[in-house]
Amino acid sequence: MTNFPVTRPRRLRKNKLIRDLIAETSLSEKNLILPIFIKDNINDIEEIPSMPSVYRYPPNDKLIKYVEESYDNGINYVILFGIPAYKNDIATSAYDKNGVIQRATKILKETFDDRLIVITDECTDEYTSHGHCGIVVQNNGEAYVDNDESLKIHAKIALSQAEAGADIVAPSSMMDGVVGAIRKILDENGFQNTLIMSYSAKYASTFYSPFRDAAYSKPAFGDRKSYQMDPRNAYEALKEVNLDIEEGADIIMVKPAHTYLDIIRLVKDNFPDYPLAAYHVSGEYSMIKAAAINGWINEKIAVLEISTAIKRAGANLIITYYANDIAKWLKEGL
Ligand code: PBG
Repeated sequence: MTNFPVTRPRRLRKNKLIRDLIAETSLSEKNLILPIFIKDNINDIEEIPSMPSVYRYPPNDKLIKYVEESYDNGINYVILFGIPAYKNDIATSAYDKNGVIQRATKILKETFDDRLIVITDECTDEYTSHGHCGIVVQNNGEAYVDNDESLKIHAKIALSQAEAGADIVAPSSMMDGVVGAIRKILDENGFQNTLIMSYSAKYASTFYSPFRDAAYSKPAFGDRKSYQMDPRNAYEALKEVNLDIEEGADIIMVKPAHTYLDIIRLVKDNFPDYPLAAYHVSGEYSMIKAAAINGWINEKIAVLEISTAIKRAGANLIITYYANDIAKWLKEGL
């Protein structure tokens, strides 16, 4: 209290313009990536009960219309998740030339060209009957996701996405070496300029549950704890990020976001020169949505506060189901 009344922090909060003048963090729709679920063999959009206001889109004019509306809101970045026509043990539909994601990527790039950056989630869980992020083998009578067998499939999927026109591929399997395997196959096939955004520190989180309803990707047995990170570990994230950078990742990621702000800060402080994405995941979305629907929380203020917190923690970009709302709310102002 020695400086009182000379130092009065409240002077810097006295009105909105002064507060805006000295704000350390800002939100912009230019740093937001919109996730979109694309489902094969449907003609119309479908509701997702556990994610109100989020829909599954067919890879046709309905998708184009939605992306056009989002573009008009100022959203230039989308990440696509596929719900394929069929599943098997080895995720064949994930690298099919005519697969749902390949078709969606093609029509979006044909329609929007350089106005839109198309990112493709690269994984097998939506495309396999067992729902795991790799190839399942029997190991002493127990089912196990084999790392190195999985890498071959992940490389094939990434290549087929790049061939379809993806600007950025985003491996989300948490297999060891997946970034290196993808960088190698892309480079060997002339895709040196296709970026890799790696889900580097992806935790085994229950907050992915609504996504798994949306994408029908719940594991048929077991869980993902032998590949996704243990929520008890913070410093291990640095090892994961470091490996991905060494293997050639252009953009790194922490996921989930709201529950893992400490990890975002830790990664940013240790790798300040790498663009860092944070994924505000489905369960984090649905919790806010449920509270808002019940009238327990002001959705707009809550979402802007949480999204600002994610940036303040050190994220440069946010993947968020609220991207369109945020873009509109930023135009309105608080
Ligand atoms: C895997 C993948 C998942 C999410 C993104 N990529 C699901 C999982 O790991 O089970 C979850 C995203 C979310 O919850 O919003 N393809």
